[in-house]
Amino acid sequence: MSFEGHVVLIHAFPLHAELWKPQVERAPAGTRFLTPDLPGFGRSREVPVRSMEDLARSVLRALDEAKIDRAVIGGLSMGGYVTLALYRMAAERFAGMILADTRATADTEQQREGRRKMIATVRERGPSAVADEMLPKLLGETTHRQQPALAARVRAMIESNPAEAIAAAAEAMMGRPDSTALLPSISVPTLIISGAEDVLTPPSDAEALHAGIPGSRLAILNNAGHLSNLEAPDAFSLTLNAFLTSVSASR
Ligand code: MLT
Repeated sequence: MSFEGHVVLIHAFPLHAELWKPQVERAPAGTRFLTPDLPGFGRSREVPVRSMEDLARSVLRALDEAKIDRAVIGGLSMGGYVTLALYRMAAERFAGMILADTRATADTEQQREGRRKMIATVRERGPSAVADEMLPKLLGETTHRQQPALAARVRAMIESNPAEAIAAAAEAMMGRPDSTALLPSISVPTLIISGAEDVLTPPSDAEALHAGIPGSRLAILNNAGHLSNLEAPDAFSLTLNAFLTSVSASR
């Protein structure tokens, strides 16, 4: 039985909706994917926003515009932070949840300091300086070794985004609340995925999400880093599509 419904996937920082191309290409028959560009990113013509709640509201607007009442909703990294903010706001819109390479906790003071520096970097030297800084950590060491062409693809996504969208999203991540207390109240089927080689949100963050969300499933993907869906697209989509089938069966 395939999943005859909508799946909303929210992209990571500082990328855009193209991140999800491998999953859209591997969509099971009957499943419709909505992959919005967050305000200011990719093809979005919206003004960049500076809070996680405003990012979540932009996804709600995309759902309303597409006339989607309920969907399996998820995201990778920053997309996961947006997903948790959206659940806090509108849990009734979720038929299921996907949290990939993300975490529930807020930024530490040290991470906030890093964001301030990144905001200054992107304003002074542009998105390519952010790509220089982030690329070594966005992809896992196996990908750097075995799929060097992926780095150029990720760089192109970063460089196509306006500096102000990147700065605004960094500010939104900096101010996001801790969602740990929300986890036990998540009552929809939830899939948690992490690349085994993720150094930005390591598998221990995924394990903490799994421990906090009742009945959640956890998948750790080998040979993948932070952008696990792009680095291990077959394994990611196999896991995702099997989860969607199980959501159908439980409805
Ligand atoms: C992301 O991939 O969205 C970012 O690395 C998340 C973060 O910086 O916390």
